[in-house]
Amino acid sequence: MSNNQPVIAALAAVLTDLSTEQIVEKLEAPKSSELGDVAFPTFTLAKTLHKAPQQIANDIVAKIDQNGFEKVVATGPYVNFFLDKYATSNQTIKTIIDLKGAYGDNTNGNGANVTIDMSSPNIAKPMSMGHLRSTVIGNVLANITKKNGFNPVKINHLGDWGTQFGKLIYAYKTWGSEAEVKADPIATLLRYYVEFHEKAKEDDSLNDQGRAWFKKLEDGDEEAHQLWQWFRAESLKEFTQIYDRLDIEFDSFNGEAFYNDKMDKVVDILTDKEILIKSQGAQIVDLSAINPNLTPAMIKRSDGATLYMTRDLAAAIYRKETYNFAKSLYVVGGEQREHFVQMKAVLSLMGFDWADDVEHIAFGLITFNGKKMSTRKGDVVLLKDVLDDAHELALKQIKEKNPELQNKPLVAEQVGAGAVVFHDLMNDRTNNFDFNLEEVVRFEGDTGPYVQYTNARAKSILRKANTEIDPTTLNLNDDSTWDIVTTLNNFPQTVERAWQQREASVIAKYALTLSRAFNKYYANSKILTVDDQLNARLALVQAVSIVLTESLRLLGVKAPEEM
Ligand code: ARG
Repeated sequence: MSNNQPVIAALAAVLTDLSTEQIVEKLEAPKSSELGDVAFPTFTLAKTLHKAPQQIANDIVAKIDQNGFEKVVATGPYVNFFLDKYATSNQTIKTIIDLKGAYGDNTNGNGANVTIDMSSPNIAKPMSMGHLRSTVIGNVLANITKKNGFNPVKINHLGDWGTQFGKLIYAYKTWGSEAEVKADPIATLLRYYVEFHEKAKEDDSLNDQGRAWFKKLEDGDEEAHQLWQWFRAESLKEFTQIYDRLDIEFDSFNGEAFYNDKMDKVVDILTDKEILIKSQGAQIVDLSAINPNLTPAMIKRSDGATLYMTRDLAAAIYRKETYNFAKSLYVVGGEQREHFVQMKAVLSLMGFDWADDVEHIAFGLITFNGKKMSTRKGDVVLLKDVLDDAHELALKQIKEKNPELQNKPLVAEQVGAGAVVFHDLMNDRTNNFDFNLEEVVRFEGDTGPYVQYTNARAKSILRKANTEIDPTTLNLNDDSTWDIVTTLNNFPQTVERAWQQREASVIAKYALTLSRAFNKYYANSKILTVDDQLNARLALVQAVSIVLTESLRLLGVKAPEEM
């Protein structure tokens, strides 16, 4: 619902027995716009007031202060409010200037925890574009969660356990060298891993060796453990550089290895419930009772080693016990859909009713100039290279557009990284999309730089005007600003919708809509003309900049003052 402040204030003045919350709860959108902009139903007041709802509606209309409304009328049991365009415009602008970044905040979440499993790259490999998607989508969901009154807990479930580390240890010990790894850790480890797969194609016994080393690692073998720890630390160093560059922080780095001592519990519960069955030496949970199409979940391999699934079950339980989450989100590519369906099925067979609060936030595949990528073949686009190239492209355009600009490299970094992130966020997350850097870093069209540029333009108008804005005496009376005002007015419900749909793109699309509305206005009017509405126009520009900056903040994109 739109900005209802005037409606709430007018009703509160008449219905002194009701709290603001009680009034807000009752407000509705009328069935059609002919009935007005906001409706207040009186049914629930009939009992306490001992009057018919129609009568109550009439009484309210008789007493209410009609100032600031086009009109207020009783229609049967409803009080219908018709907002005054000009009063609404000025009220909206004032509200935004008063609240600043807090405009659009709500308390729907009541401070409940929402765990967000995000990023979660695999150590000893470079972070992929898929992990970038998880990182940025997860980060925005955390910001949106918070704006809706929840408390987000950002968890990086590092892929730091599994047979691949057995393979890597084998490769390192057999043909690797310490000096080589030290010189360029991730690239070297990736090369060992690729070489391992090439050699294993010729000689299958390598796979057994890899599995044996992983078993040693799981059993706490000292040498295996030390190598693993070294690989993990080097990987984290490299991931941290990217997180710093994107300005993204985590509340927990508990990766898969963290759950090593928590998996017996999973097996115990499954055994207690008598749902763990032996199948060809392995231990599995049959899920056909939940869904006949589901393949069984494997909990232990025949050699007793645990699996990705086992660790995820332990993690899910640990998160419920530690954070008592209201929702537990997993921002992971759509190719793992079946894994999460299985995981939820096992959790509900275990008797956890909170299994329903577990949600897989799936996203589509990213291709790079039409190509898919695979780490096994060593065919990866490095995130660092993408960010570096985006930086270069941004710098080139800044030099052309604004040669006088101070600190160009800093702005180029904000624009380059912002462009990559925004592009990732503006499509519905389940869509697949191709990544073409030239398209992404353009200053026009549906891009991050376009939104940043619009905001910088608004800021520059305010700098040029160089006057103190007085938000208490606004008199904006100009139809050409109505598009901007209704868009600004929609921001609070956009924030709610982004959470309901778990969609960062709702915010990205909103930022584009607001930018377009503002640029259209900017092109057709002389904002800085000195007349009696100058103060109000500047206040509007300031409100636009506040909401654009807040939208960009939610998206994890920087808002440079000038570019
Ligand atoms: N490391 C995994 C991968 O790269 C993603 C982990 C996602 N999180 C989870 N709890 N399973 O495929």
